[in-house]
Amino acid sequence: MSPYLTAASTPIMSMVLLLLLAIVAYWMRSEKSLLRGPPSPSWLLGHEGQIPLQPTAGVLESEWTKKYGTILRIASFAGQEGMIVSDPKALQYVLSEKPYDFPRGGDNEVIGMALLGPGLTTMNGTYHQRQRRVLNPSFSPSMANTWAVMLQDHGAKLVEIIRVKSQENTDSIVEVMDWTAKYALDVVGLAAFRHDFGVIFQKKVPMIEALVHAFATASTEMTFVDFLVAMIAIRFPRMINTLITVSTPFLRAARKFKNVSQSTAASILHTPLVDPSERTGKDVAGLLAASYHSTDPDQKLSLDEILAQMSTFVFAGQETTSGTIGFLLYELATHPADQERARAEVQELYGRKGNTPLDAKDFESLPFVTAVIKETLRMHPSGHTLPRYAAAADVIPLAFPVTLKDGTVTKSVPIKKGERVLCSLISYNYLPSVWGADADEWNPERFLDGREINSNVGMFGKLLSFSAGARGCLGWRFAVLEIQIVISLMLKNFVFRPAPNAKVRMVPNQFLMIPAVEGQEDKGAQVPLILESLN
Ligand code: HEM
Repeated sequence: MSPYLTAASTPIMSMVLLLLLAIVAYWMRSEKSLLRGPPSPSWLLGHEGQIPLQPTAGVLESEWTKKYGTILRIASFAGQEGMIVSDPKALQYVLSEKPYDFPRGGDNEVIGMALLGPGLTTMNGTYHQRQRRVLNPSFSPSMANTWAVMLQDHGAKLVEIIRVKSQENTDSIVEVMDWTAKYALDVVGLAAFRHDFGVIFQKKVPMIEALVHAFATASTEMTFVDFLVAMIAIRFPRMINTLITVSTPFLRAARKFKNVSQSTAASILHTPLVDPSERTGKDVAGLLAASYHSTDPDQKLSLDEILAQMSTFVFAGQETTSGTIGFLLYELATHPADQERARAEVQELYGRKGNTPLDAKDFESLPFVTAVIKETLRMHPSGHTLPRYAAAADVIPLAFPVTLKDGTVTKSVPIKKGERVLCSLISYNYLPSVWGADADEWNPERFLDGREINSNVGMFGKLLSFSAGARGCLGWRFAVLEIQIVISLMLKNFVFRPAPNAKVRMVPNQFLMIPAVEGQEDKGAQVPLILESLN
């Protein structure tokens, strides 16, 4: 059952919010979309309520895309209409060419302000532009070799812990997500904030415990009121400051995480903020400290904006990367010939380099491993759908023509002011018109066999898994290197096979899509593997 519909909490508040929503929806009645699309499953929830609750992420959107084309009409909340877009030119237009004309919606802002504060992922417009200007250098290519040293050093600890766990268990099964998730948290702390959380050694960190609690509450205790709050925030962005104070289990857990992360950020950033000699360096901590003391209004961030970046980077950089690593290990476990081919490439590299330390270029020089990473990101994009809305009426250009309701075939579609646009990264990543007739199948060779990939978007391998443009993933280079290093170390040290009766699926949650075991979705992200040690 929908988690939105499980709780009967605060019924009076639900009724008040529902009434408000009905009034707003009445005001907002507008002309019907020209686009074709599936019939609405319900007035209140529309398709927007269906998408995050389907058993496997992306299935509905792919079905609709096959039937109606790469831009289609859906029922949004409370009788409104919106669209799902997977056309490469349209996505390029919305995400990359006009990111500030297609901002994130009020639902993002209400959850963002409650959970993270006014950081990069929450803010729109000039606030976002200024934060991005300050923080862009933090994940630039010049940092890659510094990260490579740290990621390998911490990776050696990850391998040793996993080895011990596989030897402790008689069936050699290890729940790898337990460890890759902790690794991903530690390395964000080290790379961005010069701080070792130490969660891989089971250190109890209140901020991380509050984050885990907020994630768990989002998966299991989201109430109908949360849903109404999000819907009202979309239509009434001015009410956001009031809406974030509503009391539901999720919003309480979100505010708790934000408060704990703000005080953690204040203590970790204290030294760079007060000591001028620490205000150097291109990492996030150094840039934030320099910005705090800057007198240039284009570079100056408030203390609230500075403290919000810690929760933002931990949130943006952890489940995304550890989920991708989990899917990748599972794909290689279920495609043993590809695992062998990738291992041979990694062993050749380590054999050739001997005891010389490896740098970022060494990991980039692994063509098949890189193709496997791209194929994993293509098939399993953590941020499967990015919601946006049109700040003004516009016309969206298309790469592939669509047929409108009246039978007209067109390569551009008008959009009304305020209309919701769901950018379906997952549908784009599976388009046969871009990736070939085998788009639904695992085939890393597609990135090596010289075929033309009929698109020119994204940051890495023509994929949109990191989105694109001024709001695209700031940490993508770091994420790719982290995955390259963890996978190389895993291939060098273990042979892996899937655990019996544990089929891993892409399960959407409130924020992202995670690898979960079929029938055990309530346990969250899991990838159990049988590991055989090679050393
Ligand atoms: C495989 C791993 C990752 C994936 C698939 C991924 C994907 C994405 C996507 C799709 C967005 C755009 C979200 C939107 O527009 O709503 C995004 C934004 C962002 N990501 Fe990543 N990400 C990954 C890892 C990381 C890491 C490791 C970091 C930092 C350490 C990071 C930091 C950020 C930040 C700060 C933003 C917000 C950018 C902005 O709004 O200006 N991400 N990421």
